[in-house]
Amino acid sequence: MRFFIDTADIAEIRDLAATGLVDGVTTNPSLVAKTGRDFMEVLEEICAIVPGPVSAEVAATDTETMLAEGRRLARVAENIAIKVPLTPDGLKACRALSDEGTPVNVTLCFSAAQAILAAKAGARFVSPFVGRLDDIGADGLALIGEIVEIYAAYPDFTTEVLVASVRNLGHVVESAKMGAHVATIPPGILRAMFKHPLTDKGLAAFLADWAKTGQSILDPMKGESAHDAKPARRSA
Ligand code: E4P
Repeated sequence: MRFFIDTADIAEIRDLAATGLVDGVTTNPSLVAKTGRDFMEVLEEICAIVPGPVSAEVAATDTETMLAEGRRLARVAENIAIKVPLTPDGLKACRALSDEGTPVNVTLCFSAAQAILAAKAGARFVSPFVGRLDDIGADGLALIGEIVEIYAAYPDFTTEVLVASVRNLGHVVESAKMGAHVATIPPGILRAMFKHPLTDKGLAAFLADWAKTGQSILDPMKGESAHDAKPARRSA
């Protein structure tokens, strides 16, 4: 499963990209508004930090203007994916942009029927919003299962399931169990994925026991330091 981060906050993206675990970024108008910054500038910076797709959403609702906006956004960097809403106009724009070779992320997907349309329109990604479905008492994860199952039945569907509106670790883990291709994860939830109390407790115990040995793996007397450690040579 690939991980995108769901934010337009440059500091967060830089920090999490350094883990080597981030494959892309998704933004939306609300996330951009939160930054208070110029959209194009923010996008350029994000695209320089992560190699993978960076979703940039159009603001228009008619196909013609969506296409103009999508083409403008696609010029920002090679790794832009254009986000369009799951509407008839959005899917027309999806088809046209996809035919031009621009990857499209069809967003605001709330049903399996909509996901089928996105695949038929040539979307690179479809974004089902798990959390927002849960918010209204529906079952967001059940939708992920349905879409994964449907797409698997049609090998000519190349659209990837991008789990969006992720609110908790269960959304990530259960989607992974169902074989969703990508999850776009808010920074706080990605950080929470590292955490387990037994990891902290176990590490504290190992460190305490290691201190009792009085040993050091790196020997400063031999010029060994964390700063200039070289990779070991291994035979192939
Ligand atoms: C990502 O592409 C979506 O815009 C995002 O995941 C929506 O999340 P929210 O429902 O928490 O706003």
